[in-house]
Amino acid sequence: MTGLLEGKRLLITGVITDASIAFHVAKAAQEQGAQVVLTGFGRLSLVERIAKRLPQPAPVVELDVQNPEHLDTLADRVREHVDGLDGVVHAIGFAPKSCLGEPFLDAPWSDVAVALEVSAYSLKALAVAALPLLGEGSSIVGLDFDARIAWPAYNWMGVAKAAFESTNRYLARELGPKGVRVNLVAAGPVRTMAAKSIPGFADLEAGWADRAPLGWDVNDATPVAKSVCALLSDWLPATTGSMVWVDGGVHALGM
Ligand SMILES: NC(=O)c1ccc[n+]([C@@H]2O[C@H](COP(=O)([O-])OP(=O)(O)OC[C@H]3O[C@@H](n4cnc5c(N)ncnc54)[C@H](O)[C@@H]3O)[C@@H](O)[C@H]2O)c1
Repeated sequence: MTGLLEGKRLLITGVITDASIAFHVAKAAQEQGAQVVLTGFGRLSLVERIAKRLPQPAPVVELDVQNPEHLDTLADRVREHVDGLDGVVHAIGFAPKSCLGEPFLDAPWSDVAVALEVSAYSLKALAVAALPLLGEGSSIVGLDFDARIAWPAYNWMGVAKAAFESTNRYLARELGPKGVRVNLVAAGPVRTMAAKSIPGFADLEAGWADRAPLGWDVNDATPVAKSVCALLSDWLPATTGSMVWVDGGVHALGM
């Protein structure tokens, strides 16, 4: 049986530990036949060590989405490992301390600007950086936390995710004519390093499993990873600018 992603060449950002959603995406993608190149931010030797835990050790190229030189040279550096790309995964989020859990009314613009640049604008920055490698039928997938509503503690990260969702739609407009799809997976809470840095995360995840019609395990990133793989595959060929909820169904409920 051939895998869902047989022969696909993927660039996957956002691996920092083996709990990272991106690690599980890379693992599931390799299991489905994909060739994976990772990007790493900051602690490259750590990312390289984690990359060796994948079914096939994956090469790591450096990418800080706030570094214009990293972005400008990304395509050439990825080309050292693969001759083109069929998919890109954006699994990058960061907000300074004042933006998460602290009083919403107190966060200064300088901090909010960082949250927006790293967590929202970077979807556009990454898409443009990877574009020279992306052909007809390729797919960009981002990791989202549903930003249609206001959550406890999520604060300016929620605002950044709302901008991320809008960026997804505008990118879909721009890249559709080039044959490139752009979609988001809006995941339920998963215990990762980024999640643990959210002071109110315990409140956010509490009760999710009880509320979800399908149930939910905060320690299992596999459902999210599989859904990202589905969007990277050829099986949603007419879907772009969309947001697929992978949250056990919580988004669909009132009380
Ligand atoms: N964990 C959850 O509950 C959850 C739910 C929904 C969506 N998400 C989203 O999933 C994505 C991945 O997060 P995660 O939960 O796997 O946590 P994680 O901590 O494992 O990953 C976050 C990644 O962002 C990277 N990053 C931060 N600043 C960067 C920069 N300037 N340039 C490049 N990379 C940078 C980090 O190196 C790290 O790899 C994020 O966008 C997050 O908002 C997470």
